[in-house]
Amino acid sequence: MIQFPKDFVWGTATSSYQIEGATKEDGRGESIWDRFCKLPGKVRNGENGDVACNHYHLYESDVKLMKSLNIQSYRFSVAWTRIFPKCTEKPNQKGLDFYKRLVDCLLENKISPFLTLNHWDLPQELQDKGGWTNRDVTDYFTEYASYLFQELGDVVHKWGTHNEPMVVSYKGYSSGVSAPGYTDFRLHLKASHHLMLAHGKAVKAFREVGPENGEIGITLNIDPTYPADNTIESENAARIKDGFQNRWFLDPVLKGYYPKDMLELYKQFTDFDYIEEGDLTKIFQPMDFLGLNYYSIATVKQGTAGEFGFLGVEQVKTGRPETFMGWEIEPKGLYDTLLRFKQDYGDIPVYITENGAAYDDKVEEDGSIQDEDRRIYVEDHLKATKKAIDDGANVKGYYLWSLMDNFEWRYGYSKRFGIVHVDYETQKRTPKKTAYWYKQVIEDNGIKEE
Ligand code: FCB
Repeated sequence: MIQFPKDFVWGTATSSYQIEGATKEDGRGESIWDRFCKLPGKVRNGENGDVACNHYHLYESDVKLMKSLNIQSYRFSVAWTRIFPKCTEKPNQKGLDFYKRLVDCLLENKISPFLTLNHWDLPQELQDKGGWTNRDVTDYFTEYASYLFQELGDVVHKWGTHNEPMVVSYKGYSSGVSAPGYTDFRLHLKASHHLMLAHGKAVKAFREVGPENGEIGITLNIDPTYPADNTIESENAARIKDGFQNRWFLDPVLKGYYPKDMLELYKQFTDFDYIEEGDLTKIFQPMDFLGLNYYSIATVKQGTAGEFGFLGVEQVKTGRPETFMGWEIEPKGLYDTLLRFKQDYGDIPVYITENGAAYDDKVEEDGSIQDEDRRIYVEDHLKATKKAIDDGANVKGYYLWSLMDNFEWRYGYSKRFGIVHVDYETQKRTPKKTAYWYKQVIEDNGIKEE
């Protein structure tokens, strides 16, 4: 048996827009993802989150299902638009009530809630003011966060500010594949700064009005980046890609500065006039934990082709097996990342806030889903986690992405990440083989060796 530490937390993760549905109910306002889904060609088959997994109505049975799978903690996000459908008006009680009901239900079932404030579904009204490129949004965010700290702080102890700010700013404002869909790298730089500033302000507010025994952190998507070969050029490309994706967010939040080499490189795009004196101090707030979303690695060489060509970086495939997303599978990347946190960023406790895989699941004649490929993916990443813990990494828990199949952003419903299968016609939930396996892992607090 590969045994995990006694207090290790076993969870699953979801997000509001991907599962809730009920987008027009109980006063919810429009989010940027509602709007983005309507733009032609942006989301596969023009799909959207209007119904999704109908979790808004089915949350009680979903929580019971989690209970039946031994899940100890549930990472979900709040739809900002349910709480502040109009940013200048008072909060919407009915929206808050939904999350109160959800949290009560979790607690009755002895599942500890982990609440993320921003999992991408910004109110459209704020987007109309410029979204994350407008500094004022950092105040709106702090107001929204403070309201929830006060209203839910007695029952929710684990809080996350943003989920993957890099995706919000880069994919939303530069590559354009996520809402709101802009394509200007300068906007990414500005938006990323405001996201981090909003994070810092919210953490500060948490210390002032949040629960005393509460914990708060941020979730970053880290792609460990390796040079394609041992030439200086490839190593330099790896440094740039790591700076762009990882250090640009890790350094301000955990060290209080932007990486020097990236500031130098980005001079060609901006004069950073949006960074005000004292901002970095505001961003750099002591956090209780760091959330890591880990799926895959990046391998790079110098070059001008492809998505990162404008930075002189060319991402290459290495021939490793891939998931249904086309993401290369490399559990060692998770191990390396966990140890890197310890080495470069101190001994901050880490939760793996997302890890999992999409596969082209088949429903068998008997109704079961034998997702052995997903199970192996999870097992191998858990083993890498355990090895990292043994080698000194401070990992406190693991949240499998995802509890159930859901709306996978621009891919619509075509990519299934769930350990529970969802039939979108009937909303029937069927745990897959991985779910039963994970249940046993939780019961054993470890992995049985063959
Ligand atoms: C992450 C997102 C999550 C989900 C997974 C597959 O980037 O945080 O919502 O889409 O990828």
